[in-house]
Amino acid sequence: MAVTEIERDAMRRALSLATRGPRGLNPQVGAVILSPAGEILAEGWHRGAGTPHAEVDALSKLTPDATRGAIAVVTLEPCNHTGRTGPCAQALIDAGVARVVYALDDPGDQSSGGSDRLRAAGVDVVAGEQSEQAHELIADWLTVQQRGRPHVTVKWAQSLDGRAAASDGTSQWITGPDARADVHRRRAEADAIVVGTGTVLADDPALTARDGEALRPQQPVPVVIGARPIPADAAVHRHPHSPLFYDTHDLAEVLTDLGERGVQRIFVEGGPTLASAFIAAGFADTVLAYIAPVLLGGDRLALTDIGVATIGDARRLQVDEWVPLGADLLAIAHPVSPPEGS
Ligand SMILES: NC(=O)c1ccc[n+]([C@@H]2O[C@H](COP(=O)([O-])OP(=O)(O)OC[C@H]3O[C@@H](n4cnc5c(N)ncnc54)[C@H](OP(=O)(O)O)[C@@H]3O)[C@@H](O)[C@H]2O)c1
Repeated sequence: MAVTEIERDAMRRALSLATRGPRGLNPQVGAVILSPAGEILAEGWHRGAGTPHAEVDALSKLTPDATRGAIAVVTLEPCNHTGRTGPCAQALIDAGVARVVYALDDPGDQSSGGSDRLRAAGVDVVAGEQSEQAHELIADWLTVQQRGRPHVTVKWAQSLDGRAAASDGTSQWITGPDARADVHRRRAEADAIVVGTGTVLADDPALTARDGEALRPQQPVPVVIGARPIPADAAVHRHPHSPLFYDTHDLAEVLTDLGERGVQRIFVEGGPTLASAFIAAGFADTVLAYIAPVLLGGDRLALTDIGVATIGDARRLQVDEWVPLGADLLAIAHPVSPPEGS
């Protein structure tokens, strides 16, 4: 049977419920249980690894009588594997649910197959309802599943002549207030903000996401990569989250570890050395270049060696958007074809 208008509304509600859960090791998922007549009986969402999945959370609010013949509307295919919690597909079958409408297929090797299990038990299953919205909601989590690492945005601010600092190393501020406010807004959308020791030693950045002087409610975890020690009184130590320090130059190792900590989206705001290393390794999924109408000259280029020896090796980007920000211009771009290793 085709998806009804009531089920469509329930999916919109489930997508909104999903956002109440944390971003982390598990995806954000929402669920609504409808009576056969279409009334909302219960709502649920996933509160993070080790806690009940959304549909089980919703079922737990109902008596077995209420769930018999019910319709479950879920943003992700009910899972089919026993992890820290039991298979949700079986929980729905045991509850006597007659119909399941879900948005996205479960991408996991071990957890997929829930819809087959449900169908085999005689449950009517419809897949793909509002799958685009569901995909958007958990796109970062899906990236981690597919690539085994978080999504990486590499950001820098540069002069019109491509410099990231003046000759003496000062770079605050190349861009104007609108561009800097835009950076803070984007920082708050990331799970981690990453710099090299060079930036900490040169600029002593707070690495917080601010709205004017005020801290934003969402703060990325500060991450510093490199071997050199950081002063005990560095501003990063006063960040609301404890900073993570990686005494390595192995970016793949850092990304894997961050992914295992539930970090889905990182914002690289290091200096030219770290930005270049991320790009050279093919880890930059998105590039944000804030371009200011100022000239600095000198040798402090926004990027150093990214492994391009000849023009044929150039890292071509596609610009998704040019955004004017006061007197500055932001290029939001992604690699045309990411090199291997990403
Ligand atoms: N315009 C901008 O957007 C912007 C942003 C930030 C900074 N800056 C400016 O950039 C300058 C600092 O530049 P920077 O390049 O020294 O800063 P950086 O890129 O933040 O730090 C460089 C350090 O990162 C460590 N590192 C970690 N992984 C690495 C890898 N895979 N390859 C190489 N090094 C790795 C190394 O530290 P160890 O030697 O300790 O191992 C290296 O010396 C300052 O002048 C600052 O003001 C500008």
